[in-house]
Amino acid sequence: MDVGGGIRMTTVVAIDGPAGSGKSSVSRAAARELGFDYLDTGAAYRALAWRCIEHGIDTYGPRDVIESLGSFEYSIGIDPDKFFVRVGSEDVTEDIREPRVSAIVSRVARIPEVRSYLVELFRSIIASSTRPGIIVEGRDITTVVAPDAEVRILLTATEEARMGRRSAELAGVSAEKTAQELSSRDAQDSQVVDFMNAADGVTTVDSTDLDFDQTVLAVVNLVRTQAG
Ligand code: DC
Repeated sequence: MDVGGGIRMTTVVAIDGPAGSGKSSVSRAAARELGFDYLDTGAAYRALAWRCIEHGIDTYGPRDVIESLGSFEYSIGIDPDKFFVRVGSEDVTEDIREPRVSAIVSRVARIPEVRSYLVELFRSIIASSTRPGIIVEGRDITTVVAPDAEVRILLTATEEARMGRRSAELAGVSAEKTAQELSSRDAQDSQVVDFMNAADGVTTVDSTDLDFDQTVLAVVNLVRTQAG
């Protein structure tokens, strides 16, 4: 994909999928294996939601959130071995995973102005990659952020498998509560972008019956065959 005015060629791998599909950890491991960068786009929506909470910004209406974009200083590490998320000078890598952030992030992510602002930001981060390729994961990467990516993948798993994985990650939280939160977030998010069905030209990788290493291998093999 030509991302820098035609001088440098970076292979862009776009991966979409629902919560709990293993997208983030699979994308990061595949990037490591391929010597690529890795961009977690959900982290930006989470960082914005975190900042709204910290600054008491009203997320029920779009106005204050849109206004806050003007002073949103965001940075993210795209080296898969040096992942970090910062808002201003504050490291929020862990904080953005807190349930209080997950609970409101969909409200922030459905504001069209927020989406177009972040889509531009993602494109400039992709353009800044100096490695041979970058794996970009989220919900609208194959369709909106990088529809002309060389490799486009929808990573899915049955709802049962996704819930099981997510509750294993969140030890101490009841499986039932986790399942409820996950399916309500997916329901809200899928009103904005369709990440449950593969768009034209997108390859589906169903990880329901694959373990982690097998899923990473499936992605790496697809990149090696499709990106030449
Ligand atoms: O992948 P995640 O759970 O970290 O994503 C956080 C939220 O951001 C999720 O509710 C959906 C939203 N999101 C989005 O709308 N578009 C993206 N490209 C990535 C995430």
